[in-house]
Amino acid sequence: MNRAAPEPKANMGQPAPRIDGRQKVTGEARYSSDVSVSNPAYAYLVTSPIAKGRIVRIDLRDARAVPGVLDILTYESMPDLKEVPFGAGGGGPTTSWQDMGPEIGHEGQIVGMVLADTFEAAREGAYRTKFEYESEMPSSSFGSPGITKEDASKASARAKKLPQAGNAEGAYASAAVKLDQTYGTPTQHHNAMELFTTTCVWNGNELTVYEPSQFVYGLKNGLAKKLAIPPEQVRAVSTFVGGAFGSKGQLSPRTWFTAYAARKLNRPVKLVATRDQGFTIQTYRAETQHHIRMGASRDGKITAFIHEGEEVTSRPDPYAVAGVEDSARLYRFGTVKTHVTLVHADRNTPGFMRSPPVVPYIYALESAMDDLAIKLEMDPVELRRVNDSMTDATGKPWSSRHLMQCYDEAAAVFGWSKRDAKVGGMRDGDWMVGWGCASAVYPTHVGACAARVRLTASGHAQVAIAAHELGTGAYTVIGQIAAERLGIPLNKVEVALGDSDLPPAPVAGGSNTTASACNAVAKACAAIHRKLYGATTETVGGGMAHTDERPRLEQAFKQLGVGALEEYAEFLPPGAGPDAMKKLYAGTPYLSGGSKGEKLMYALGAEFVEVRVHSLTREIRVPRIVGAFAAGHIMNPRTARSQYMGAMIWGISSALHEATEIDKRVARYVNDNLADYLVPVNADVQQLEVILVPEEDNFVNPIGIKGIGELGNVGTAAAVANAVYHATGIRVRQLPIRLEKLLAV
Ligand code: MOS
Repeated sequence: MNRAAPEPKANMGQPAPRIDGRQKVTGEARYSSDVSVSNPAYAYLVTSPIAKGRIVRIDLRDARAVPGVLDILTYESMPDLKEVPFGAGGGGPTTSWQDMGPEIGHEGQIVGMVLADTFEAAREGAYRTKFEYESEMPSSSFGSPGITKEDASKASARAKKLPQAGNAEGAYASAAVKLDQTYGTPTQHHNAMELFTTTCVWNGNELTVYEPSQFVYGLKNGLAKKLAIPPEQVRAVSTFVGGAFGSKGQLSPRTWFTAYAARKLNRPVKLVATRDQGFTIQTYRAETQHHIRMGASRDGKITAFIHEGEEVTSRPDPYAVAGVEDSARLYRFGTVKTHVTLVHADRNTPGFMRSPPVVPYIYALESAMDDLAIKLEMDPVELRRVNDSMTDATGKPWSSRHLMQCYDEAAAVFGWSKRDAKVGGMRDGDWMVGWGCASAVYPTHVGACAARVRLTASGHAQVAIAAHELGTGAYTVIGQIAAERLGIPLNKVEVALGDSDLPPAPVAGGSNTTASACNAVAKACAAIHRKLYGATTETVGGGMAHTDERPRLEQAFKQLGVGALEEYAEFLPPGAGPDAMKKLYAGTPYLSGGSKGEKLMYALGAEFVEVRVHSLTREIRVPRIVGAFAAGHIMNPRTARSQYMGAMIWGISSALHEATEIDKRVARYVNDNLADYLVPVNADVQQLEVILVPEEDNFVNPIGIKGIGELGNVGTAAAVANAVYHATGIRVRQLPIRLEKLLAV
């Protein structure tokens, strides 16, 4: 795990250490709630203990009597702010529940905000508020009374046209070998280290918001809409984000309540919501169910693939991840039928959570592939090989696909050929040993993006772009592309990100940041290069020179007679409309990729896992994971490896640990804290091997970058489940795999 970064291969950039690493480890990096503003008031939220009903009485006398309490906002004192439609993406609101009541739509809905001179007084005030409710019986999840079902294709734009090919029911009915199984994934919450925080400062009509955000242009424009002020009057700043994973991509009610409070008090207001409030005031990964039927010939060719998913969402909002879009294309199925049903319950609206469509849907597919391999008495790698293809069932070609290369490289390092295929056939003393594998896949998203680059005659560059640093290394790779294209060392590049005053980048979601931002920066660098050297030598700056071109640069500046050059560039990915940039400025990002265009654009990988299950205690250990990934041009093998390692650890988490438990009687999250919401600790993570498989694909974008942030945790849970089956003969089809589910051996 702690080896030095490998030597870069042909299509890989330098393994540069993070340029913001020192700031982060010394505490010098300023996260949103660290930003100091003068004379702030502190906000503390009051949230609803009921999931469904209404507020019938509010008594704030005791709360107002707390020394230091300045004001208390409730639905009675909040003016009606403009309803902004729920936006399942970009900067739109996370939910249609946009008021502090009196109607209550989910447990933990914000019903009040106490403002005070100190955090402690605000908290004390919040504890002393008295809200009386009239409560109705809520519906909590699948199978609860009162849920309503809806065809996702009718409600969600994402699910409008799901893949279908041929007569899958017919092909299934006549298949020689059949699999019919259901799989399920639990509710999960992001639980980023950094809490949900918002600080609002008004200066006359101008509002500055400091908030950890995956999309500062969305935040700026959405908030302006909500407050009914021109977007030019709002600035959103998010210099560093302490983990987001999809939870900080959209505008949420807390932000407009804080902005309103600051305007009302005429004083900066700072809110840091608590860990448990974070479970309900933002989004989460909803629980899913999958019914998969597969038909195959005896030699393993899959002739029919039928994937029907169900996803929980809130009462009003049709949030769907609809990952059949990806599961139905991963192999060359003869025929395909897919469907997604939304189940509306009295819950907060779910939202993006790391690899939103593929984590649950590929867990189901890759578990089913293993189930099918067992039925066929076939090696699971061979089953994938037999069904590998450069086109999907609808005839759409892949722009590049190196899935089997990933399998071959990972299998060799893992030692897969030494596997005893017999279930329970590998044992080490008291430990039952199992080996399993699964595929990883993630859509290659690339977004419309702008950037500004300034280069001085002394060889210093400044890059400005409203992209976001979520802990992934964005500052570093964006600096690297400028250094490479301008021919200067990385330490001469200054990178500014996360501020809506800078040229816009898309939402840092769908793993698009490196591809979108680097292509925009490269374009601005190319323009500078042309001015300096003329068109003929553009290839010098266009190549990955990694050389210091400063003597040549000084000469060129001298000839031009200027001290600096500055260029602004706009990058549009294939398929973007002519107004994509205008829309981005207005807070709506355009992302291409995945199955959207004329070719399938995806990054792929293969993961091999060893598990050990103790024969007496059923303790489950994952001593070893090997993952091989092919994701186009890798800007930085060091940060890429970190991404993959973190992702595979998250995969262990999905497999063995994570689940938000719901008290079904009251539709309330029970383990809404980091003591009871389990995530892996160091002892749960042992050997992780990452293999970067070289791949070139200049169809996806000029530099050939495929996003990697969300790739590595896709498939891991299935690989663990498959290995657990191999060890024990018990197939767990509802995550997470906890030891009580293995007690039957
Ligand atoms: Mo990620 S869930 O696309 O922020």
